[in-house]
Amino acid sequence: MQKIDLRSFFILLACVTVVVTTMNLSSCSSDNEEDLFAPDEMAMEEDTLPISYATQIIPILENNNCLNCHNESGANVLGAGNVLEGYDNLRVYVDNGALVGVLDGSNDYTPMPPGGSITSFELELIQQWIEEGAENN
Ligand code: HEC
Repeated sequence: MQKIDLRSFFILLACVTVVVTTMNLSSCSSDNEEDLFAPDEMAMEEDTLPISYATQIIPILENNNCLNCHNESGANVLGAGNVLEGYDNLRVYVDNGALVGVLDGSNDYTPMPPGGSITSFELELIQQWIEEGAENN
């Protein structure tokens, strides 16, 4: 009887050890980057990546329906002749200031998209892309 109790005790001990070890391991693996790097450093790290025309700017134009009215085929009717589809076409509106003008609430421009607005984060990405030289990247 006593032998069995001792055996149970060791089995229990083994179980506890396994559980504690697992908890330590999982808490270690959940030490994500935020714990390893200060949040500021992470933000800076992200900031140093150049904004991409192909993977970040075009999706903003698509998600906000800009290209529904400003595509190469329909712009004459819906977009009043302003074509934003394609890098060279968009670049015209980057260089003359109209792209940011319609997005940031400048009085000189008709706000876009009509009846709405893009998010401030999207606007920041566009502004940063332009600051970085508005490259076809
Ligand atoms: C429903 C159709 C429609 C959508 C959607 C739309 N636009 Fe426009 N856009 C127009 C029209 C119409 C004009 C001409 C407005 C005017 O001259 O007052 C225009 C003009 C512009 C101009 C030229 C402004 C100038 O003064 O030179 C830019 C740049 C522009 N839009 C950007 C955008 C962007 C960026 C989006 C998406 C966030 C967008 N548009 C969404 C219809 C649209």
